[in-house]
Amino acid sequence: MARHILITAALPYGNGPIHIGHMVEYVQADIWARYHKSCGRDCVYVCATDTHGTPIMIRAQKEGVSPEAVAARFHEEQTRDFAAFDVGFDNFYTTHSPENRALTETFFTRLRAKGHVTAREIEQTYCEKDQMFLPDRYVRGQCPKCGAEDQYGDSCEKCGSTYNPTDLKDARCAVCRSPASRRTSEHFFFRITAYEEMLRQWIGPAHLHPHVVAKLQEWFQAGLQDWDFTRDAPYWGFEIPGAAGKYFYVWFDAPIGYLASTKNWCERTGRDFDAYWVSDEAEVYHFIGKDILYFHALYWPAMLSGAGFRAPNRIWVHGFLTVDGVKMSKARGTFINAATYLKHLDPQYLRYYYACKLGPDVADIDLSMQDFVARVNSDLVGSFANLPSRSAGLLKKLENRLGRMDDAGRALVAGIEAGAAEIGRAYEACEYATAMRLAMSHADTLNRYFDNEKPWEKMKTDPERARVALTTTLNGVRLLAAYLGPVLPRYAEKVGRLLGVPTPDFQNLGERVEDRTIGAYERIAERLLPEALAAVVEATREEQAAGV
Ligand code: MSP
Ligand code: ZN
Repeated sequence: MARHILITAALPYGNGPIHIGHMVEYVQADIWARYHKSCGRDCVYVCATDTHGTPIMIRAQKEGVSPEAVAARFHEEQTRDFAAFDVGFDNFYTTHSPENRALTETFFTRLRAKGHVTAREIEQTYCEKDQMFLPDRYVRGQCPKCGAEDQYGDSCEKCGSTYNPTDLKDARCAVCRSPASRRTSEHFFFRITAYEEMLRQWIGPAHLHPHVVAKLQEWFQAGLQDWDFTRDAPYWGFEIPGAAGKYFYVWFDAPIGYLASTKNWCERTGRDFDAYWVSDEAEVYHFIGKDILYFHALYWPAMLSGAGFRAPNRIWVHGFLTVDGVKMSKARGTFINAATYLKHLDPQYLRYYYACKLGPDVADIDLSMQDFVARVNSDLVGSFANLPSRSAGLLKKLENRLGRMDDAGRALVAGIEAGAAEIGRAYEACEYATAMRLAMSHADTLNRYFDNEKPWEKMKTDPERARVALTTTLNGVRLLAAYLGPVLPRYAEKVGRLLGVPTPDFQNLGERVEDRTIGAYERIAERLLPEALAAVVEATREEQAAGV
């Protein structure tokens, strides 16, 4: 049966630019989408800007513009950065959309109709001056445990204890610094406890990596708490129908944004939304970072189930990016924005490097600067890009004309083609590091062949022999391009154009290119110069100093 696949990546917040940490996820999911497409599967990759919530509202106030304008600006930047990194969303939408409003209301009404929404008065910190309830991160005061000054409303950075914002001593509004008071208001809670049995069934290795299952079981055992999904005005989000002045908390409508983006795409392309989110005709996969696991693996399947939608087939959870073993840091110049990176470096480098590091596990992935330079220069440039570059260069002196392979050449290429199933399995299992290692071993074989044949010498003594060797090498390169295509789509496209054939993919592996004139060689990848990398770090430090 033909597979229909829907892939999502977490929706980036619309109050800031995309950085190389985010890119881990968007590239990881993009590789998966491109792999499935390369196999000819019906696959769609959707995302959106996550536009709502307090941080965007406050940023807008400070800038004296509307929150829509802030979100729209970053949405545009994000669209541009993703495109530059070859992150090929089929739809990059926004959560502030009519589809999302309608779907969010549908979730709410259906959950309430089931009796899974309860209303309760709660007391919260409030700023009389700003006339708003203060989210945990917007209250600062003295830690109730250790007395440290100027701590956030939810946890103390000094002693590490966690508490409620109402426990803080001398609590103040983080925006205007005036003393915070307390107020009560009515909030709606999602009765997650009604889904305990459903979640107990759902949380398992069929849907999640075993390490993630273990983490979730810890939370599960600690006990599920009903979830407050209401925020009081002023709030930037969707107002709750029939409850004036009350809004859906951003984390309520954000995951529904996956459905809204799908819906918008379906409407544009004439596809059937229900096939994705109601029936289980299609497969649904989420890619997320470990920091947002709670929302995605506990609240989200319960919300979907309660509102009459299907649960995802699987959630792929990745770890965090570290740079040279430590958290990305503004001061060190390693908190690198995508746009800053792009000014100095080729996006293919990062896609390739991440692929070499990524597996299905939730472990953090480290960008070691030294290793980055070495891998890019030895594998990407030295092994992968040099083969077509050198072969095409030599063939130029032979009228750009491919000949026919001999038996040995044919056997070599067949051997590389025989590796497809294993590489395909690795992609499918999100074992990209393995896929890259396998592709690399085929490139090694091909490089060895090239070095033994010495076509650059034979050109002078036996040009037809050289032509056979170059034809064989370029047929091998065509397969490498197919194998690397999900990670390096530009490499695959350029090899296709060079050979005058369709872009190499997992469907046309069996084709051979012989007896034809090839096109002009376009440079595939330049060496990564350590100076360029240093320039990115320097530029990032300067942005930080300038307060950008
Ligand atoms: N808006 C929420 C997601 C809502 S999904 C319904 C959000 N946005 S985010 O912009 O903070 O993060 C988007 C994704 O990028 C998350 O999956 C997050 O884990 C990932 N990453 C953000 N910083 C990261 C690193 N430094 N390293 C790896 N991934 C990181 O969360
Ligand atoms: Zn205030």
